[in-house]
Amino acid sequence: MTTTHQHSSSSQQALLKADALLQKMSLAEKLGQLNQVSGQYGGISLDLRQAIQSGKVSSIINEVDTPTINELQRIAVEESRLGIPLLIGRDVIHGFTTVFPIPLGQAATWCEQTVEAGARIAAIEAASRGVNWTFAPMIDITRDPRWGRIAESLGEDPYLCSRLGGAMIKGFQTESLNERTAIAACAKHFAGYGYCESGRDYSFANISENELRNTVLPPFKMAADLGVATFMPSFSDLNGVPASGNHWLMQQVLRDEWQYQGFVVSDWGSIRDLTVHGLSEDDKHAALLAVNAGIDMEMVSDCYAKHLPELLSENKLDEHKVEQMVRRILQLKYALGLFENAQTNSEEFVALANHEHLLVAKDAATKSCVLLKNADNILPLDSSQFSSIAVIGPLADDKYEQLGTWIFDGDEQHSITCLSAIKALAGTDTKITFEKGLDTTRSQSEEHFSKAISAAQDSDIAIMVMGEESILSGEAHSRTNIDLPGAQVQLIEQVVATGTPVILVIMAGRPLTITNVNDKVSALLYAWHPGSMGGEAVADLLFGRAVPSGKLPVTFPRVVGQVPIYYSQKSSGRPATNETFVHQDNIPVRATQTSLGMTANHLDVHFSPLYPFGFGLSYAKFDYSEIRLSEQRLTMESSITASVTISNRSAVDSQEIVQLYIRDLVASTTRPIKELKGFKRLPIKAYSSIDVDFEINAELLGFYGPNNTFITEPGRFNVWIAPHSDTTNYQVFELVSEALNI
Ligand code: NOJ
Repeated sequence: MTTTHQHSSSSQQALLKADALLQKMSLAEKLGQLNQVSGQYGGISLDLRQAIQSGKVSSIINEVDTPTINELQRIAVEESRLGIPLLIGRDVIHGFTTVFPIPLGQAATWCEQTVEAGARIAAIEAASRGVNWTFAPMIDITRDPRWGRIAESLGEDPYLCSRLGGAMIKGFQTESLNERTAIAACAKHFAGYGYCESGRDYSFANISENELRNTVLPPFKMAADLGVATFMPSFSDLNGVPASGNHWLMQQVLRDEWQYQGFVVSDWGSIRDLTVHGLSEDDKHAALLAVNAGIDMEMVSDCYAKHLPELLSENKLDEHKVEQMVRRILQLKYALGLFENAQTNSEEFVALANHEHLLVAKDAATKSCVLLKNADNILPLDSSQFSSIAVIGPLADDKYEQLGTWIFDGDEQHSITCLSAIKALAGTDTKITFEKGLDTTRSQSEEHFSKAISAAQDSDIAIMVMGEESILSGEAHSRTNIDLPGAQVQLIEQVVATGTPVILVIMAGRPLTITNVNDKVSALLYAWHPGSMGGEAVADLLFGRAVPSGKLPVTFPRVVGQVPIYYSQKSSGRPATNETFVHQDNIPVRATQTSLGMTANHLDVHFSPLYPFGFGLSYAKFDYSEIRLSEQRLTMESSITASVTISNRSAVDSQEIVQLYIRDLVASTTRPIKELKGFKRLPIKAYSSIDVDFEINAELLGFYGPNNTFITEPGRFNVWIAPHSDTTNYQVFELVSEALNI
């Protein structure tokens, strides 16, 4: 991958070329490079043709028909005065034709190689059609499962998100953007979108600078350091200034502090939205605010196209500023090799959704499923123990719904559903009865329940594939109630009541509140929206052809009222404890009001989550030893090693995701009670042990303190190496400022 250094040497050349071209450009041609317009889905209107010919279009969004893209590029290169090729942008979010698990599912793999491989294939397939720019990865930290876009996120934790977001960028961009299958990536949505009030899309986030710098910005800083080609601002209002007009964010942080060299594209119409937000008076004012904030290209709305000429002639805007914006855009076009060849010959690429791509998607789906419950080790299913299976549920045989949100180019024809994969694995001796039970996940009608119940009664095992349809998550699809929708809970309860053991598989775009069914079913596999090969992945896991290894990238609340609930909370002055927690049912009527002895918890629900961040079961059983520290103290310059021995006490080869957490016990601004600082996904053979080491240095222990600068403060720290975040066994070490006398 482009290291920052390599990036700067290749982009240096692109910069020189961009500078040379800029000398030849008229003002109108320069302004034209700031416009992205919508494609026409396989057509080119006369207006669009003329706009490209006259150099008024820099980029097209949402055109994937290759002959049309080639013609658009030909017009730009051959019929515009300076022959500047187009950026062809598309939301390639979790695959192109081959669909990978939704990003939240990919985050559950905790596997950089898997995530990178998925992005690589998505890029190859998109590039084979002529797309050269994706609006991914989305690296918004979110702690709110009501927010529909949690599906597109990499979860609640900045460290996990940074590592996996980086892997996605590498997969899209490769070593060099000039590579034929590379596409430019886009770090979005800068910043704070995942903190929108009550998970309502497009709304407001009030985030202290301390929280921004410690939690929200780190994945974006990683992306800038890695040389991500573009950035996109958030639709939302951050602390009173919508991101598209937020000078502090785009200029001070992104450009001045981080020295980001790529360009910033607005979100769809987000410059025009500044007026609706109440930040600008009209389109012209919005354009001025956005330019000053640092948005280089406008997506779809035309505030720049219409008003920048006027702003320039009124001297409200300087042409040098415009040149700076254009230079960055041209630089990317050079880096992508578009000036050498902007045409796409699909024949030169491997086929879309080919066997190998689907196998990689299957591997990702297999690693992304999280086994949350496995009572009496009912899984994996042993086909010799039963002769009939009832497969029940609206998502058991739905090729489309398993794909998830944002799958514009995904092709459901390639989907393998749970039903077909279970049939293939169970063998001909096993009788399989399929009943949907509900027409869709949202159906309220119980009219088909009786058939589903009889199927369960007549079978040895019931596999229920439930959850939420794709359209219930994603952009602008937030929910206040995140229980299983429709009459699913009733259906599950009635199938459980038959006495036939129930294996529940949930496909969803978010953590659902599943407390009401969790205790009732025998096993629970959380499959997210697993993509094209989801059915095969699930069936392999259920039948023991594969071993579950995914872990939660986000905390699962018991009830929606606990939200936001996340593992890395701060300690209140009166933290909740099991000893102090009293459920409201146990408070006598007319008890005297007192705060004495009371702690930070709700009265009606235990303060813990249903499942903690990092949690996930395996068919193997792992024991963790005590943590060993190479030294009890480290200095600002030295490092220590924390290690454990993990023993697989089972006959099953498996992979374990080992997690390193720390807590800074005393700091000048309060620190989370636990913070992920490392993880490794490691194979551990049956009945064998491995030693796992993590290096800890001062940099790892630093944070943004009272002045919002990155500092490392001496003091004591707790360290955990554990299978998930809800763990108590720790060691203590100390960071000292002076040299050690050893
Ligand atoms: C709006 C979304 O917020 C953004 O993520 C996406 O890339 C653009 N639309 C383009 O479709």
